[in-house]
Amino acid sequence: MKATAKAHTNIALIKYWGKRDESLILPMNNSLSLTLDGFYTTTSVEFQNDLSADRFYLNGQLTEGAEKHRVTAFLDRIRAAAGEPDAFAEIHSANHVPTAAGFASSASGFAALAAAAAKAIDLSVNQQQLSILTRQGSGSACRSVYGGFVEWEKGKLSDGSDSFAIPVASADHWDIRVAAVVLSSAEKKVLSREGMKRTVNTSVYYPSWVDSIPDDLAAIKDGIVAKDVEKVGEIAEANCLRMHATTLAANPPFSYWQSTTVSIIQAVQDLRAAGVPAFFTIDAGPNVKVLYTPDYEEKVRNTLRNIAGVHDVKVSKPGEGISYI
Ligand code: PMV
Repeated sequence: MKATAKAHTNIALIKYWGKRDESLILPMNNSLSLTLDGFYTTTSVEFQNDLSADRFYLNGQLTEGAEKHRVTAFLDRIRAAAGEPDAFAEIHSANHVPTAAGFASSASGFAALAAAAAKAIDLSVNQQQLSILTRQGSGSACRSVYGGFVEWEKGKLSDGSDSFAIPVASADHWDIRVAAVVLSSAEKKVLSREGMKRTVNTSVYYPSWVDSIPDDLAAIKDGIVAKDVEKVGEIAEANCLRMHATTLAANPPFSYWQSTTVSIIQAVQDLRAAGVPAFFTIDAGPNVKVLYTPDYEEKVRNTLRNIAGVHDVKVSKPGEGISYI
């Protein structure tokens, strides 16, 4: 059977940074994100009797190597859950996200893949089970099952059955904007998987990072309910800076930032000094996302576009969760 699903990326306002289990992808800390309507992946999965291995097409290209291996390893989990170890599939995935440059293409990618594969193999899962499955492809992807503001509960159990996303507020709760400021389409040097591992194992700041999460989470959820952009923005910004500080204190130290990353941070701070409530956040790459309310659309866009080194600015609204096509 064939099934097609669409999933959007999400941007973390409270970051997931560090795993307690590498294989099941269980995080050290809860995280919270906003699903974005501007970036998404559509994936179709068709299990075919005459295939002896999976065939994975990404943006129309038959793909081999590490990328294909990640997809096949993930489908192995779906096959095992469905009791169909010998069912192989043709997978077509179209990414409307710049890959591996700090934009979470793996988030929309694995959410769409999990949803399409589960449906195609006739594995009946509710949204919580789908989030658990998706998490095992890419951690942050488990939040893309839902639209709007979403929390990922880290869970306590060693089998990961209590580590899944839960919706906090739907996409239509708050008309807010996220501008993705693109400064590099280059592949990032330290993948998030490697960056997290090095940080957990060596960063002297890592324990303080984990300790800081519960207060951030409680406060940001209050801010989201109240649609308080200052409160949400200030917490997201501080949380992002604390995450990036852990990488500077790792051994060997590293940073995802480029000089233009710092220019954008300063431009956002200048906007704020001029009375514009705009706030930045940065994932495991050099690109910056800026949170603001729609009344400042023109001012924010123009400011960001005019920074030297900025290639593009793409504005998103809150996006919906997984849908089937
Ligand atoms: O799920 P991954 O391996 O793409 O890691 C995502 C890590 C961050 O983007 C930095 C933070 C997050 O919560 O999305």
